[in-house]
Amino acid sequence: MTEITTLAAAAEQAVAAAQSLDALEEARLNVLGKKGWLSAALKELGSLSPDDRKARAQQLNAVKEQLGAAIETRRTTLADAAINARLKAETLDMTLPVADSAEAQGRIHPVSQVIDEITEIFAAMGFTIAEGPDIEDDFHNFTALNIPPEHPARQMQDTFYLPPRASDGEQMVLRTHTSPVQIRTMESGPPPYRIVVPGRTFRSDYDMTHTPMFHQIEGLVIDRNIHMGHLKGALVEFCKAFFETDNVKMRFRPSYFPFTEPSAEVDINCSREGGVLRVGEGDDWLEILGSGMVHPRVLQHCGLDPDEWQGFAWGMGIDRIAMLKYGIPDLRAFFDADLRWLKHYGFVPLDVPTLGQGVAR
Ligand code: DAH
Repeated sequence: MTEITTLAAAAEQAVAAAQSLDALEEARLNVLGKKGWLSAALKELGSLSPDDRKARAQQLNAVKEQLGAAIETRRTTLADAAINARLKAETLDMTLPVADSAEAQGRIHPVSQVIDEITEIFAAMGFTIAEGPDIEDDFHNFTALNIPPEHPARQMQDTFYLPPRASDGEQMVLRTHTSPVQIRTMESGPPPYRIVVPGRTFRSDYDMTHTPMFHQIEGLVIDRNIHMGHLKGALVEFCKAFFETDNVKMRFRPSYFPFTEPSAEVDINCSREGGVLRVGEGDDWLEILGSGMVHPRVLQHCGLDPDEWQGFAWGMGIDRIAMLKYGIPDLRAFFDADLRWLKHYGFVPLDVPTLGQGVAR
């Protein structure tokens, strides 16, 4: 009798004193494990006389219940403490600056930055991003865009041709603009479309403002009842967001592209006072993109009925607009992969452009 009471009191103390879930389990096994004293005492019940057995069984069961409850209570306390300690140890202060990590040292190239800014603005207007191959066939780069063979517009672009293909003699080209992705998009499924297409483009040209590889971003909207007003609205909204000023003046100047009718080149106002170019100030004009209503023949090439579907498109040089926005003088340095240049003109990678914070800081 006393022996069990003493053991139970000692066990209760051990449970209360356990500082970890492991220590608690050890205390529990001492009592209730296969070799625990309580398990042993319960096994011995069979050898007692019926009267003794009843009293003893009652006593042992009471002890078992009491210790069981004490163990459960302690287990909950220890588990809570363990979780709280872990939460505290894993706390992360998201407002702290990134230490000298690789992420903090790297820089985003101005071209990537400007692509992110432009796509962010058009994404907010409901556009999605589309892409196409750098190596194009004649049909997508020219013919489907209403530039048939022998058309003088083919000479407007100094095209890189690949050697004739062995299978059929077709001469593929390095795409001279992102416009072929208009065709690929219209071929891919039924309208409506609302896409922007950033990508690499190629022309045989090299000086301060031209490199044989450069970047364009194309836009295309095709739906029912689309008109020039939509084109103008989208591009005005874009310019305000991109240059972060409501004052930017825009001029839609009549122009010619084979794949649009009517066509317009878009200028924005700027000042060149003191040799510094400032956008959205002054009375000078700067051309930033070509645009227009998609030519009915382009729609027909893609199997669309121009009486049912209309739309507008535009194309813009990314590199030039990056030079303009961030005051970078020589385009050729964009592609020299010079780390000193990138450190100077690049962007901190964790400063992702968002409309909420402004697309450029
Ligand atoms: N593809 C033209 C170029 O590279 C730019 C362009 C002009 C694209 C008018 C368009 C457009 O989509 O509508 O010079």
